[in-house]
Amino acid sequence: MMNEQISDASVTGAQDVPGWYPIAASGGVVKRKPIGIKRLGQALVLWRADDGRVVCVPDRCSHRAAALSAGKIRDGCLECPYHGLRFDASGRCVLIPANGVGAAVPQGFDLHPINVREEHGIIWYWYGEGEPAREVPWIPGASEPGFGAAEYWYDAAVPYLRIVENLADFHHFPILHKTMIPGIGTRMDEMDAHVENKIVVFSATMRYEKPGALRRDAKIKASFTLPAIALIEFGGFYVNYFLCPIDDHSCWVFGRYRGVKMPDLIAHAVGKLAARYDRAIFMLQDRHVLLAQGDAPGDLSHFKLYPADRALALLWGLRKQAILEGRRSGTELQNDAAAAAAG
Ligand code: FES
Ligand SMILES: [Fe+2]
Repeated sequence: MMNEQISDASVTGAQDVPGWYPIAASGGVVKRKPIGIKRLGQALVLWRADDGRVVCVPDRCSHRAAALSAGKIRDGCLECPYHGLRFDASGRCVLIPANGVGAAVPQGFDLHPINVREEHGIIWYWYGEGEPAREVPWIPGASEPGFGAAEYWYDAAVPYLRIVENLADFHHFPILHKTMIPGIGTRMDEMDAHVENKIVVFSATMRYEKPGALRRDAKIKASFTLPAIALIEFGGFYVNYFLCPIDDHSCWVFGRYRGVKMPDLIAHAVGKLAARYDRAIFMLQDRHVLLAQGDAPGDLSHFKLYPADRALALLWGLRKQAILEGRRSGTELQNDAAAAAAG
């Protein structure tokens, strides 16, 4: 029954949900040097201008395609490491050293900055056709940056959708993570999963079949929204995840930990340790299972699901809706262009 209900939600393709994607942590983009990243299949360079604004351009020099991310920031400009062309924060090429300082720069050397936003301590990148949505996706109650929040990020060689599937699933904890996260029962009780304003809200009590002094109930609360933000309340922490596909095979994972009820100083120190431990759990225990899973990620149609999978099923329903809406707006754009050409 469950499987029938959700098979309709099956969609494939890692990068087909239009939206604002989290591509970097604010703390990772400093004024002193550019950083090179690959997100959604594109090589990008990020740097911070003198006024603090984040600039994003393709990681390719207009001269002979050197990677600008290997360059430097000089006089408020991004300087290519190869022949020293300089580009200001608007992408304009302001210097070609071989032509001489003060020589006018010919047309065609400018870069085309990509529209990014910086909100909630994250750099967001619009992916999709048409006008960017007004708001970046956010979950009410998700943690903001600050001293009490511990942050970490890494590239995982696991497809993005596989990681999203994995995040929306808690009933693997007492099985796959029995050794690294002990003390959780296998039975999911008092489960609730529903959608509120395009956010999947999930809660449950994880219970031992035979409770005992060391076999207590574990409460879990989680929310998910697209393209990929998760807020999980577990083990005394709010764990916020922000994900972005790097390409079809790998994913950027950004985690922000904040203690639920603890002083900032302790939350920061413990959060740092918890974040490292979290990454170790993923790399040692989840990763190989996810890589060995059959069927394409993002396609639930061949899975047999049961009630504990409901958060995933609802999330994939939202995903299908977002893809269809994105396609519709793409078609509308094409129709508008055709009408304009005909008129
Ligand atoms: S390739 Fe960048 S300056 Fe020549
Ligand atoms: Fe896991």
